[in-house]
Amino acid sequence: MADPAQTSSDLAPLEAMASPSGVAMSMGGSLDRASILLVDHVELNRQLIKGILKAGPYRLFEARSQEEALQLLERENVDLVISEWIVSDWSGRPNSGLELCRRIKSNRRTHLIPVLIVTSVQGIENEVAGLESGADEFLVKPLQPAVLRSRIRSMLRQKRVVDSLEEAETILFALAQTVEQRDKETGNHCQRLAALSVALGSAIGLPDEDLLALYRGGFLHDIGKVAVPDAILFKKGELTEEEWVVMRSHTWKGEEICRPMRSLRPVLPIIRNHHERWDGSGYPDGLRGEDIPLLARILQLADIFDALTSQRSYKQAFPVDEAIRQLRHEAELGWRDPELVSVFCEVVRLPSLQWRQGIAASPWGGGPVAPEQETMRESLLRMSQQLMK
Ligand SMILES: [Fe+2]
Repeated sequence: MADPAQTSSDLAPLEAMASPSGVAMSMGGSLDRASILLVDHVELNRQLIKGILKAGPYRLFEARSQEEALQLLERENVDLVISEWIVSDWSGRPNSGLELCRRIKSNRRTHLIPVLIVTSVQGIENEVAGLESGADEFLVKPLQPAVLRSRIRSMLRQKRVVDSLEEAETILFALAQTVEQRDKETGNHCQRLAALSVALGSAIGLPDEDLLALYRGGFLHDIGKVAVPDAILFKKGELTEEEWVVMRSHTWKGEEICRPMRSLRPVLPIIRNHHERWDGSGYPDGLRGEDIPLLARILQLADIFDALTSQRSYKQAFPVDEAIRQLRHEAELGWRDPELVSVFCEVVRLPSLQWRQGIAASPWGGGPVAPEQETMRESLLRMSQQLMK
C-alpha cells in the first residue's frame, strides 16, 4: 500500500484491500486528492483502469456491485464514479450500470458526482438511454489510456467548479440565516416565508424554476441587512431620513451580494424589489403595477402576512382573518397587487398552511409538526433536490 504522504509520482502500484464491509478498496493517496470510485463486477476490468490511473494523483475505491457502490458513496466523499455499463446487483445478478447512475443522481448527497460510463455497447439508443439516466460521459471500449486520463481530468475539473459554487451558495445561505438570527423575534421567518411564497406561486401555476427562486428568496431576500447597523435595524421609535436611506439600501446591497452567483440570478429581482408598492410609492426603484417583478410581489405578500401573524415585543400575533383584512386594506390603498392579494387570501386558508391556528410552534421549529406541514416540507425539499440537479 502506498504511503499517503508520497507525491503522485512516488506512488507504488495500488494494492486492493478488503474494507470491513467487504468492499474492495485501494489506498493510493492523501485525502486532498480526487477520489474515484470504480464499479465493475469483473476484477480484471477494474485492474485495467487502475493500471491506467496508477500514476495519477487519485484515491481509488472499488465496488463490485451496485449496492457496494451505493454503500461506499454513503460514507466516502467521492469526486467521480466510473461504472461499467453492466454491474451486478447485491445478489450477483447482472444489472444495468444506468440504474446505478439513476440512483446516484436521485440522491441529494451524491447527485453532483459526475458519472462516466464505460461500455462496449455502441449505438445511439444506448447513448440516449445513458444520457437519460444522468450519466455525464461515455467511453466505448477498448479504452485508450490517454483518452481515459484526459476525460477524467476534465470531469474532475468541472466537479471542482461545481464544488466551489455549491460552497459559495452554502455560505450565502448561512450568512442570510445569520442576518435573520440577529432579530431574536423573527424565529423561523425565512422558512415560513419560503413555504408561503411557494404555496402562492403554485396556486397561480408558476413553473418549478420560479418556485425554486421563491423558495430561495424566502431565505435570501433580506441578506442585504448584513450592511445595516443594529442601531438602525432595531431602533425603537421613528427612523430619521438618513437612517431610512441606510435601511432601504438593504434591497440593492442584497442584490449586489448575490449577483456574482449565476445560480441565484432568478432570485435577484426578489431581493431588490420586495419593498416596491403597486402604486409606485415603494423602494428602491419606485416601480409600479406589473413592472414590479411578479416573484417580488409574491414574496412581499408572504412577508407582510408573516409579520402580521407573528408575535413581536410591541404587538400580539394577529389571527389569520385580521391579517387578511389588513392585506385587503393595503390593496384598496393601492399598495398591493389586488388580484394577487385575492389569491393569497385563499391560499393562506388552505389546511396545509393553517399552522397559526391551533399549533403554537412554528411549522419547522422544534415543536409539534402537523402531518400536512411535514408533507409540505418534504415536497419543498424534494422540489429543491430536483431543481438543484
Ligand atoms: Fe426587506
